[in-house]
Amino acid sequence: MRTNYCGELRAEHIDKTVTLYGWVNRRRDHGGVIFIDLRDRTGTVQIVSDPQRTPESYQDAGCLRSEYVVRISGNVSQRPEESLNPKLPTGEVEIYADSIEILNSVNKQLPFQVFTTDTESVREDLRLKYRYLDLRRDRMAKNLQLRHEVVKAMRRFLEDEHNFIEVETPILTRSTPEGARDYLVPSRVNPGEWYALPQSPQLFKQLLMVSGCDRYYQIARCFRDEDLRADRQPEFTQLDMEMSFLSQDEIIELNEQLISHIFKEVKNTDLPRPFPRLTYTEAMEKYGTDRPDTRFGLELVDVAEIVKDSGFKVFSGAVKSGGTVKVLPIPGGNDAISNVRIKPKGDIFNEAVAAGAKGIAYIRVRENNEIDTIGAIKDNLTEEKKQELLTKTGAKPGHLLLFGAGDIATVNKSLDRLRQVIGKELGLIDENKINLVWVTEFPMFEWNADQKRLEALHHPFTAPYPEDIQDLKTARAQAYDLVYNGVEVGGGSLRIYQKDIQQKVFETIGFSPEEAQDKFGFLLEAFEYGTPPHGGIAYGLDRLVMLLAGEESIRDVIAFPKTQQASCLLTDAPALVNKSQLKELYISSTYKPRE
Ligand code: AMO
Repeated sequence: MRTNYCGELRAEHIDKTVTLYGWVNRRRDHGGVIFIDLRDRTGTVQIVSDPQRTPESYQDAGCLRSEYVVRISGNVSQRPEESLNPKLPTGEVEIYADSIEILNSVNKQLPFQVFTTDTESVREDLRLKYRYLDLRRDRMAKNLQLRHEVVKAMRRFLEDEHNFIEVETPILTRSTPEGARDYLVPSRVNPGEWYALPQSPQLFKQLLMVSGCDRYYQIARCFRDEDLRADRQPEFTQLDMEMSFLSQDEIIELNEQLISHIFKEVKNTDLPRPFPRLTYTEAMEKYGTDRPDTRFGLELVDVAEIVKDSGFKVFSGAVKSGGTVKVLPIPGGNDAISNVRIKPKGDIFNEAVAAGAKGIAYIRVRENNEIDTIGAIKDNLTEEKKQELLTKTGAKPGHLLLFGAGDIATVNKSLDRLRQVIGKELGLIDENKINLVWVTEFPMFEWNADQKRLEALHHPFTAPYPEDIQDLKTARAQAYDLVYNGVEVGGGSLRIYQKDIQQKVFETIGFSPEEAQDKFGFLLEAFEYGTPPHGGIAYGLDRLVMLLAGEESIRDVIAFPKTQQASCLLTDAPALVNKSQLKELYISSTYKPRE
């Protein structure tokens, strides 16, 4: 029987006889003595086999190779002074092995060494293909443990302290409009018809409120067929919540308590509360994005009013055609960023262009507030306007001012990108800081230029502010996102619970009454049977754990993630299926592989 896990052995266990199970992390032979780092889920401990002191285990110890599975019994001893290892939690002790039993061996060359601490040196495709080996490594085992701790803290808070119950909602369902493409599943018994995998449990959780459930939560798997990035997976997990009869402030307050509880449990950190709030408009003005990283300054300044009548066509033209001109003021930027980098083909220029800008204009502020810039700006800026510009942007000698001019969305997008790149480069981001901020008062709709129609910024079940309802197109939504160091970790809203308002919203996003009835008739009908006011939120569990673990990709906190191409390298999914399976489903493929 196992008496202990490897990682838990300490000085207090000295002189005890223990039995451990685990994997050989590494074997080292030192002048006749064999050292084995034995590893299990909890960590590693040093095993010693010595021809004099433990002759029974010595032969077996000599046969061990990395990743063999073994049972080891022996005596816990104090390590000699010279081999104490303060970096290892078990570094004060070692175990003299009385017996070593090999439970299983490794018969093939390992694709990579599990014990290396330098995980980055192993290619990610190899790690994903042999994920079961990758997950044996300390970093990954810790991440899975942390994920478990986070979920446990969520459950305890919601269930034990706030009366939430967990309800499972269907995976085979109808499409929920969260803005991504659906994953579709054909129905064999209803030929020609399709289920969609849920992009979120949104509609079911609202129906649970109609059913009187009052407080629902679920650790819910969601599926979205969208372009993948480091913080996006085609299937991911949400902590999904919905509550009846609470105001927006009450929901936010409860969620701040929840997040604080998680930080306390898993990081032993007390978060200052209340979390700061920014309206969408403020966030866009100051940071150019609705998920600002507020760990550092470099706030944007709108200078359209100052430059709108200047002779510099790039500025005046942008304002005249309904756009804007904004500045990213960079203290010390004169020394840090050369002209070559801002001019065409430079890296700063390229970043701006990648975000949709045509280019980037600049002003350098020199001693005595002299300015240095391309001629066209200088020649078209009166002394008075120059002073206004310097005052409004807070510019001092040494400042570099980067200008974005054009339509508002592009200016914001490009300056947001530059702000992040430059913030990082100048070391302005304190990696130990935890900045959580609520972004509120989103617009209900945004313009989809491709489809030439308004679409819901969150989803079409979000309630408008009552005072804005007269002009729905420009109304603000009672929605809130939680942003953690520039990453959107959660989002939610108060919901519409009146049929007529819901119909108006459907109409605004271009659904005909028939379409609305066809897609969401069940919801509209439910609203007629006594629906309580309700609201909720969903957190991206993977993103939250990624940030708590200090990782840069959610793949590192998901046991079996997919690649950027949405495939699983371990099982080789997706894969072809038998023709007979397709036939049963009345499906034939139009796909023609390229020759
Ligand atoms: P939303 O679409 O904002 O809201 O999703 C909630 C949170 O889920 C995370 N997230 C993702 N994480 C990983 N991979 C993805 N592809 C992905 N997409 C989203 C984000 C996001 O903040 N039904 C609403 C919630 C509500 O209104 O209650 C919803 O799903 O962290």
